[in-house]
Amino acid sequence: MIGSDLNIAKDFLLNGDLVAIPTETVYGLAGNALVAETVAKIFEAKNRPSFDPLIVHTHSIDSARNYVLEFPDWALKLAEKFWPGPLTLLLPKQRNIPDIVTNGSELVGIRIPNHQLTLELLKSLPFPLAAPSANPFGYISPTSAQHVADQLENKISYILDGGNCTVGLESTIVGLKNGKPAIFRSGGIPAEIINELLGFEIEVLLSSSNPQAPGMLENHYSPGKPLFVGNLDELINYHTGKKIGIISFYVNYSAQVNKSLVLSPKGDLTEAAAGLFASLREMDKSKIEIILTEKFPEIGIGRAINDRLHRAATKR
Ligand code: TXA
Ligand code: MG
Repeated sequence: MIGSDLNIAKDFLLNGDLVAIPTETVYGLAGNALVAETVAKIFEAKNRPSFDPLIVHTHSIDSARNYVLEFPDWALKLAEKFWPGPLTLLLPKQRNIPDIVTNGSELVGIRIPNHQLTLELLKSLPFPLAAPSANPFGYISPTSAQHVADQLENKISYILDGGNCTVGLESTIVGLKNGKPAIFRSGGIPAEIINELLGFEIEVLLSSSNPQAPGMLENHYSPGKPLFVGNLDELINYHTGKKIGIISFYVNYSAQVNKSLVLSPKGDLTEAAAGLFASLREMDKSKIEIILTEKFPEIGIGRAINDRLHRAATKR
Protein backbone atom coordinates (compact mmCIF):
# COMPACT_ATOMS: atom_id res chain seq x y z
CA MET A 1 0.00 0.00 0.00
CA ILE A 2 1.30 3.47 -0.95
CA GLY A 3 0.23 6.49 1.10
CA SER A 4 1.48 9.50 2.99
CA ASP A 5 -0.05 8.79 6.40
CA LEU A 6 2.61 9.08 9.09
CA ASN A 7 0.47 7.32 11.68
CA ILE A 8 0.05 4.25 9.54
CA ALA A 9 3.81 4.15 8.91
CA LYS A 10 4.51 4.59 12.60
CA ASP A 11 2.10 1.82 13.67
CA PHE A 12 3.62 -0.70 11.30
CA LEU A 13 7.12 0.16 12.49
CA LEU A 14 6.12 -0.08 16.16
CA ASN A 15 4.69 -3.46 15.32
CA GLY A 16 8.02 -4.70 13.91
CA ASP A 17 6.94 -4.49 10.28
CA LEU A 18 8.81 -2.91 7.37
CA VAL A 19 7.95 0.44 5.81
CA ALA A 20 9.57 2.10 2.81
CA ILE A 21 10.55 5.67 3.67
CA PRO A 22 11.40 8.65 1.50
CA THR A 23 14.75 10.39 1.92
CA GLU A 24 16.47 13.07 -0.13
CA THR A 25 18.82 10.46 -1.62
CA VAL A 26 16.80 7.32 -2.41
CA TYR A 27 13.90 5.49 -0.75
CA GLY A 28 14.89 3.27 2.15
CA LEU A 29 13.45 -0.05 3.29
CA ALA A 30 13.10 0.64 6.99
CA GLY A 31 12.62 -1.31 10.19
CA ASN A 32 13.47 -0.98 13.90
CA ALA A 33 17.26 -0.93 13.99
CA LEU A 34 17.39 -2.20 17.57
CA VAL A 35 15.60 -5.51 16.98
CA ALA A 36 17.61 -8.17 15.16
CA GLU A 37 14.48 -10.05 14.07
CA THR A 38 13.10 -6.98 12.32
CA VAL A 39 16.43 -6.24 10.69
CA ALA A 40 16.53 -9.82 9.41
CA LYS A 41 13.24 -9.15 7.60
CA ILE A 42 14.93 -6.30 5.71
CA PHE A 43 17.67 -8.59 4.40
CA GLU A 44 15.05 -11.14 3.41
CA ALA A 45 12.77 -8.67 1.60
CA LYS A 46 15.72 -7.32 -0.40
CA ASN A 47 17.33 -10.67 -0.95
CA ARG A 48 20.45 -9.00 0.38
CA PRO A 49 23.53 -10.94 1.46
CA SER A 50 24.14 -10.52 5.17
CA PHE A 51 27.73 -9.35 4.68
CA ASP A 52 26.40 -6.01 3.38
CA PRO A 53 25.70 -3.89 6.49
CA LEU A 54 22.85 -1.38 6.90
CA ILE A 55 22.77 2.34 7.60
CA VAL A 56 20.99 3.50 10.75
CA HIS A 57 18.79 6.60 10.41
CA THR A 58 17.98 9.01 13.17
CA HIS A 59 16.72 12.58 13.59
CA SER A 60 19.33 14.50 15.59
CA ILE A 61 22.93 14.39 16.69
CA ASP A 62 21.71 13.97 20.26
CA SER A 63 19.71 10.92 19.31
CA ALA A 64 22.66 9.56 17.31
CA ARG A 65 24.72 9.73 20.49
CA ASN A 66 22.52 6.96 21.89
CA TYR A 67 23.83 4.53 19.27
CA VAL A 68 27.49 5.48 18.81
CA LEU A 69 30.21 5.44 21.45
CA GLU A 70 31.65 8.77 20.46
CA PHE A 71 31.66 11.58 17.95
CA PRO A 72 35.32 12.31 17.24
CA ASP A 73 36.06 15.91 16.19
CA TRP A 74 36.16 15.14 12.46
CA ALA A 75 32.77 13.42 12.63
CA LEU A 76 31.11 16.14 14.67
CA LYS A 77 32.38 18.76 12.28
CA LEU A 78 30.89 16.89 9.31
CA ALA A 79 27.64 16.08 11.12
CA GLU A 80 27.06 19.65 12.22
CA LYS A 81 27.66 20.93 8.72
CA PHE A 82 25.88 18.32 6.59
CA TRP A 83 23.11 16.77 8.73
CA PRO A 84 20.33 16.45 7.94
CA GLY A 85 21.73 15.52 4.56
CA PRO A 86 23.28 12.92 2.24
CA LEU A 87 26.18 11.99 4.51
CA THR A 88 26.73 8.72 6.40
CA LEU A 89 29.38 8.48 9.10
CA LEU A 90 31.05 5.23 10.13
CA LEU A 91 31.43 5.43 13.91
CA PRO A 92 32.05 2.98 16.78
CA LYS A 93 28.69 1.48 17.71
CA GLN A 94 27.06 1.02 21.06
CA ARG A 95 25.92 -2.43 22.15
CA ASN A 96 22.26 -1.63 21.49
CA ILE A 97 22.92 -1.87 17.74
CA PRO A 98 22.61 -5.57 16.92
CA ASP A 99 25.45 -7.28 15.04
CA ILE A 100 23.18 -8.10 12.13
CA VAL A 101 22.97 -4.37 11.33
CA THR A 102 26.75 -3.98 10.97
CA ASN A 103 27.66 -7.53 9.96
CA GLY A 104 29.58 -7.87 13.18
CA SER A 105 31.64 -4.74 12.63
CA GLU A 106 32.34 -2.46 15.58
CA LEU A 107 31.40 0.46 13.32
CA VAL A 108 27.89 1.54 12.46
CA GLY A 109 26.91 3.68 9.47
CA ILE A 110 24.65 6.43 10.73
CA ARG A 111 22.92 9.43 9.16
CA ILE A 112 20.14 11.99 9.48
CA PRO A 113 18.16 12.09 6.25
CA ASN A 114 16.95 15.44 4.96
CA HIS A 115 13.28 14.74 4.32
CA GLN A 116 10.53 16.43 6.31
CA LEU A 117 8.15 13.48 6.40
CA THR A 118 10.82 10.99 7.44
CA LEU A 119 12.30 13.33 10.03
CA GLU A 120 8.85 13.64 11.58
CA LEU A 121 8.46 9.89 11.53
CA LEU A 122 11.87 9.37 13.16
CA LYS A 123 11.03 11.91 15.88
CA SER A 124 7.83 10.06 16.66
CA LEU A 125 9.53 6.68 17.11
CA PRO A 126 11.33 5.39 20.22
CA PHE A 127 14.02 3.72 18.05
CA PRO A 128 16.19 4.52 14.99
CA LEU A 129 15.51 2.96 11.59
CA ALA A 130 17.85 0.62 9.78
CA ALA A 131 17.32 1.15 6.08
CA PRO A 132 19.13 0.08 2.93
CA SER A 133 17.91 1.37 -0.40
CA ALA A 134 14.45 -0.11 -1.11
CA ASN A 135 15.35 -2.18 -4.17
CA PRO A 136 16.01 -5.85 -4.70
CA PHE A 137 19.73 -6.47 -4.10
CA GLY A 138 21.86 -5.43 -7.07
CA TYR A 139 19.12 -3.50 -8.88
CA ILE A 140 18.73 0.25 -9.38
CA SER A 141 17.88 2.24 -6.23
CA PRO A 142 14.35 3.74 -6.10
CA THR A 143 13.83 7.49 -6.25
CA SER A 144 10.02 7.45 -6.07
CA ALA A 145 7.36 5.55 -4.14
CA GLN A 146 6.24 3.94 -7.39
CA HIS A 147 9.76 2.58 -8.02
CA VAL A 148 9.59 0.85 -4.65
CA ALA A 149 6.13 -0.53 -5.37
CA ASP A 150 7.20 -1.83 -8.80
CA GLN A 151 9.39 -4.46 -7.18
CA LEU A 152 8.78 -4.74 -3.47
CA GLU A 153 5.12 -3.86 -2.91
CA ASN A 154 4.12 -7.32 -1.70
CA LYS A 155 7.06 -7.52 0.71
CA ILE A 156 6.51 -4.24 2.56
CA SER A 157 3.60 -3.30 4.80
CA TYR A 158 3.51 0.32 3.72
CA ILE A 159 5.27 2.68 1.33
CA LEU A 160 5.38 6.20 2.73
CA ASP A 161 5.12 8.48 -0.28
CA GLY A 162 7.27 11.59 0.07
CA GLY A 163 7.53 12.44 -3.62
CA ASN A 164 10.58 12.21 -5.84
CA CYS A 165 13.97 12.14 -4.13
CA THR A 166 15.67 15.50 -4.66
CA VAL A 167 19.30 14.30 -4.63
CA GLY A 168 18.70 11.00 -6.40
CA LEU A 169 21.99 9.28 -5.45
CA GLU A 170 22.89 7.62 -2.16
CA SER A 171 24.68 9.35 0.68
CA THR A 172 28.42 9.92 0.75
CA ILE A 173 29.96 7.56 3.31
CA VAL A 174 32.86 8.83 5.40
CA GLY A 175 34.89 6.74 7.81
CA LEU A 176 38.47 6.51 9.01
CA LYS A 177 41.31 4.96 7.06
CA ASN A 178 44.65 4.85 8.85
CA GLY A 179 43.30 7.37 11.33
CA LYS A 180 42.24 9.85 8.66
CA PRO A 181 38.74 10.53 7.32
CA ALA A 182 38.22 8.93 3.91
CA ILE A 183 35.28 8.58 1.52
CA PHE A 184 34.11 4.96 1.36
CA ARG A 185 31.33 5.72 -1.12
CA SER A 186 30.92 8.80 -3.29
CA GLY A 187 27.46 10.26 -3.03
CA GLY A 188 25.27 13.28 -2.50
CA ILE A 189 27.93 15.38 -0.74
CA PRO A 190 30.86 15.98 -3.12
CA ALA A 191 34.44 15.47 -1.92
CA GLU A 192 35.27 19.08 -2.78
CA ILE A 193 32.98 20.55 -0.15
CA ILE A 194 34.16 18.04 2.46
CA ASN A 195 37.73 19.14 1.70
CA GLU A 196 36.76 22.74 2.23
CA LEU A 197 35.38 21.94 5.65
CA LEU A 198 38.17 19.62 6.81
CA GLY A 199 40.96 21.73 5.38
CA PHE A 200 42.74 18.89 3.57
CA GLU A 201 42.11 16.64 0.59
CA ILE A 202 40.10 13.64 1.67
CA GLU A 203 41.00 10.29 0.10
CA VAL A 204 38.29 8.73 -2.05
CA LEU A 205 38.52 4.96 -1.80
CA LEU A 206 37.63 3.26 -5.05
CA SER A 207 38.35 -0.30 -4.04
CA SER A 208 35.45 -2.65 -4.56
CA SER A 209 37.28 -5.68 -3.26
CA ASN A 210 37.45 -4.35 0.29
CA PRO A 211 34.53 -6.05 2.06
CA GLN A 212 34.40 -3.06 4.43
CA ALA A 213 33.87 -0.76 1.50
CA PRO A 214 30.27 0.38 1.61
CA GLY A 215 27.90 -0.41 -1.21
CA MET A 216 30.81 -0.94 -3.42
CA LEU A 217 30.25 -4.29 -4.96
CA GLU A 218 31.43 -4.29 -8.54
CA ASN A 219 28.08 -5.36 -10.01
CA HIS A 220 25.49 -3.12 -8.51
CA TYR A 221 22.78 -0.69 -9.52
CA SER A 222 22.34 -2.83 -12.62
CA PRO A 223 19.45 -2.51 -15.03
CA GLY A 224 18.17 -5.67 -16.70
CA LYS A 225 19.55 -4.60 -20.08
CA PRO A 226 23.18 -4.36 -21.12
CA LEU A 227 24.61 -0.91 -20.34
CA PHE A 228 27.74 0.58 -21.85
CA VAL A 229 29.53 3.78 -20.84
CA GLY A 230 31.80 5.63 -23.25
CA ASN A 231 31.99 8.04 -26.16
CA LEU A 232 28.40 8.07 -27.42
CA ASP A 233 29.12 8.56 -31.13
CA GLU A 234 31.57 5.66 -31.11
CA LEU A 235 29.18 3.46 -29.12
CA ILE A 236 26.31 4.23 -31.53
CA ASN A 237 28.49 3.20 -34.46
CA TYR A 238 29.68 0.05 -32.76
CA HIS A 239 26.13 -1.05 -31.93
CA THR A 240 24.54 -0.24 -35.30
CA GLY A 241 21.54 -2.47 -36.00
CA LYS A 242 20.44 -2.74 -32.38
CA LYS A 243 17.57 -0.92 -30.72
CA ILE A 244 19.49 1.68 -28.75
CA GLY A 245 18.49 3.82 -25.79
CA ILE A 246 20.76 6.69 -24.80
CA ILE A 247 21.03 8.44 -21.46
CA SER A 248 23.10 11.57 -22.02
CA PHE A 249 24.14 14.55 -19.95
CA TYR A 250 22.89 17.44 -22.16
CA VAL A 251 22.99 16.45 -25.86
CA ASN A 252 19.78 15.08 -27.37
CA TYR A 253 20.28 11.94 -29.52
CA SER A 254 16.66 11.28 -30.54
CA ALA A 255 17.46 11.76 -34.23
CA GLN A 256 20.03 8.94 -34.15
CA VAL A 257 18.64 6.24 -31.84
CA ASN A 258 15.35 4.65 -30.72
CA LYS A 259 15.12 6.46 -27.41
CA SER A 260 17.05 9.39 -25.97
CA LEU A 261 16.82 10.67 -22.41
CA VAL A 262 18.67 13.88 -21.60
CA LEU A 263 19.40 14.27 -17.89
CA SER A 264 20.02 18.03 -17.89
CA PRO A 265 19.66 20.07 -21.10
CA LYS A 266 21.31 22.97 -19.29
CA GLY A 267 24.27 20.82 -18.26
CA ASP A 268 23.67 20.84 -14.51
CA LEU A 269 25.22 17.87 -12.67
CA THR A 270 22.88 18.14 -9.68
CA GLU A 271 19.86 17.93 -11.96
CA ALA A 272 21.44 15.02 -13.84
CA ALA A 273 22.04 13.10 -10.60
CA ALA A 274 18.43 13.56 -9.52
CA GLY A 275 17.13 11.96 -12.71
CA LEU A 276 19.72 9.22 -13.25
CA PHE A 277 18.09 6.22 -11.55
CA ALA A 278 14.63 7.04 -12.93
CA SER A 279 16.12 7.18 -16.43
CA LEU A 280 17.74 3.75 -16.00
CA ARG A 281 14.40 2.32 -14.91
CA GLU A 282 12.63 3.95 -17.83
CA MET A 283 15.14 2.45 -20.26
CA ASP A 284 14.66 -0.94 -18.65
CA LYS A 285 10.92 -0.72 -19.34
CA SER A 286 11.24 0.59 -22.91
CA LYS A 287 11.43 -1.38 -26.11
CA ILE A 288 15.15 -1.01 -26.57
CA GLU A 289 17.87 -3.66 -26.42
CA ILE A 290 20.86 -1.85 -25.00
CA ILE A 291 21.50 1.28 -22.97
CA LEU A 292 24.35 3.60 -23.87
CA THR A 293 25.58 6.40 -21.69
CA GLU A 294 28.61 8.60 -21.27
CA LYS A 295 31.20 9.54 -18.70
CA PHE A 296 30.15 12.65 -16.77
CA PRO A 297 32.54 15.41 -15.71
CA GLU A 298 34.54 14.02 -12.77
CA ILE A 299 33.74 16.96 -10.49
CA GLY A 300 31.25 17.52 -7.67
CA ILE A 301 28.39 15.03 -7.76
CA GLY A 302 29.59 13.95 -11.22
CA ARG A 303 31.99 11.63 -9.42
CA ALA A 304 29.09 9.78 -7.78
CA ILE A 305 27.21 9.61 -11.09
CA ASN A 306 30.25 8.02 -12.77
CA ASP A 307 30.67 5.62 -9.85
CA ARG A 308 27.08 4.36 -10.18
CA LEU A 309 27.31 4.09 -13.98
CA HIS A 310 30.56 2.19 -13.72
CA ARG A 311 28.95 -0.31 -11.34
CA ALA A 312 25.80 -0.58 -13.45
CA ALA A 313 27.78 -1.19 -16.63
CA THR A 314 28.00 -4.58 -18.30
CA LYS A 315 31.37 -6.09 -17.53
CA ARG A 316 33.14 -7.26 -20.67
O1 TXA B 1 21.50 7.44 0.94
C1 TXA B 1 21.64 6.36 1.49
O2 TXA B 1 22.67 6.07 2.10
C2 TXA B 1 20.47 5.38 1.41
C3 TXA B 1 19.28 5.96 2.17
C4 TXA B 1 18.14 5.00 2.26
O3 TXA B 1 19.70 6.38 3.41
N1 TXA B 1 20.85 4.11 1.92
C5 TXA B 1 21.69 3.27 1.28
O4 TXA B 1 21.81 2.05 1.90
O5 TXA B 1 22.24 3.55 0.25
P1 TXA B 1 22.45 0.79 1.20
O6 TXA B 1 22.27 -0.28 2.18
O7 TXA B 1 21.87 0.57 -0.14
O8 TXA B 1 23.96 1.13 1.10
C6 TXA B 1 24.66 1.40 2.28
C7 TXA B 1 26.05 0.93 2.23
C8 TXA B 1 26.09 -0.58 2.21
O9 TXA B 1 26.50 -1.07 0.96
C9 TXA B 1 27.06 -0.99 3.27
O10 TXA B 1 28.07 -1.76 2.76
C10 TXA B 1 27.59 0.34 3.82
O11 TXA B 1 26.71 1.34 3.40
N2 TXA B 1 27.65 0.28 5.27
C11 TXA B 1 26.63 0.38 6.12
N3 TXA B 1 27.05 0.19 7.39
C12 TXA B 1 28.38 -0.02 7.32
C13 TXA B 1 29.40 -0.32 8.28
N4 TXA B 1 29.12 -0.45 9.56
N5 TXA B 1 30.67 -0.49 7.85
C14 TXA B 1 30.97 -0.38 6.55
N6 TXA B 1 30.05 -0.14 5.59
C15 TXA B 1 28.77 0.04 5.97
MG1 MG C 1 21.69 0.07 -2.07
